[in-house]
Amino acid sequence: MPNIRTSTDTKVKHADAAFMKLNRNEFTTAFAFTLDFLEMELRGNTSNHNKRTGLIAAQIGRAMGLSDEDIFDLSSYAMLHDNGITHECYNVLSKDGRERLDCTASHCLVGEKNLEAFPFLKRRETVIKYHHESYDGSGPFGMSGDDIPLFSQIIALAEPLEVAYAAGETHEDIIAGIVGDTGSRYSPLLVEAFRNAASAVSFWLSLDSRFLDSEIGRHIPVYTIDIDLKQLLPISAIMSGIIDSKSPFTANHSKGATDKTAVMCDYYGFDAAKKTRMMIAADLHDIRKLAIPNHIIDKPGKLTDPEFSQIKTHAFYTRKVIETVRGFEDIAEWAANHHEKLDGSGYPFGLTADACCFESRLIGCVDIYQALTEDRPYRAGMSHEEACKVLQGMANDGKISREITADMISVFC
Ligand SMILES: [Fe+2]
Ligand SMILES: [Fe+2]
Ligand SMILES: [Fe+2]
Ligand SMILES: [Fe+2]
Repeated sequence: MPNIRTSTDTKVKHADAAFMKLNRNEFTTAFAFTLDFLEMELRGNTSNHNKRTGLIAAQIGRAMGLSDEDIFDLSSYAMLHDNGITHECYNVLSKDGRERLDCTASHCLVGEKNLEAFPFLKRRETVIKYHHESYDGSGPFGMSGDDIPLFSQIIALAEPLEVAYAAGETHEDIIAGIVGDTGSRYSPLLVEAFRNAASAVSFWLSLDSRFLDSEIGRHIPVYTIDIDLKQLLPISAIMSGIIDSKSPFTANHSKGATDKTAVMCDYYGFDAAKKTRMMIAADLHDIRKLAIPNHIIDKPGKLTDPEFSQIKTHAFYTRKVIETVRGFEDIAEWAANHHEKLDGSGYPFGLTADACCFESRLIGCVDIYQALTEDRPYRAGMSHEEACKVLQGMANDGKISREITADMISVFC
């Protein structure tokens, strides 16, 4: 077993505490950013759909006189409104870039269920389930009037507003469209609040991608919570499920990597907090794959140089998402380094052995093993023996850790 306590370690301080102070805004925004990656593929650019929907909802909530706490909850739910998107929905969405009714009900139900896993979010029953309802009862679940939760009503207005804004529609056209739907899609009270909010020049400027993050900070009250890290595992598992559902070839990749990381953490005797952090890192390591087009991920032949260049960006963005959450710096480090190689030939940073900590090496080795044993468009999944042969070759070439490779070969046999 390698001497893991003194291994070439890391600029990052390992947080060993089982509890951490979590800035709920940072965590929710990071999750929304992840969901936005899905939209990036659909629209071919940085969409910020979920973050912007949260900001719009917050400003309408403010115009309705909601309390700070309600605005926090409302904007959180608005940022997470499409957390139930699955591979099935994804294909439906991708045809025209807008949501369609035939996938709407299912993603509402899945999203409602998923949010039960968010321990720091006040339970607001059915807000996500009914976020596509219409005031006149013509929505997917036939709810009408004020039987639809107020938060759902606000999200149902904020979401298409965001889509219209991102599509480049003028403010005047957006306002006219919403006003025209008064009484059918939206309640008169809601439309009045929207008009009040939208009458400020700053409302429209705040939606500009360049100002989005700072405007979110300005409009959405900040709440922190002391949380047991273990409570975050179900959430990172939801994220890994979204990542894995992107392609049939990676249907179990993140989950498989996490399960194997957990096994190796036990083998090395990591304490519970460290193991939890490692599992979160493994769950999230391929977050950015959400934004890589499926025609590249599922390509049966060799990738072109530009396609491979695009693939190589994903680990960098993994860091960008995770490091926005204070207290997750080590998780960001371990997750983002999973394609680094000890001889400096990896990506995205080209780190060499002295800069690549033990935890990063471990997740990197597990990732390779997991990928080799899965089917790919251009080859069938390898047996344990075949995968070990490849790993051993890489270790012999000085690309990955010899010690971890030897341990994995014996542990996974
Ligand atoms: Fe949406
Ligand atoms: Fe939706
Ligand atoms: Fe990766
Ligand atoms: Fe991976």
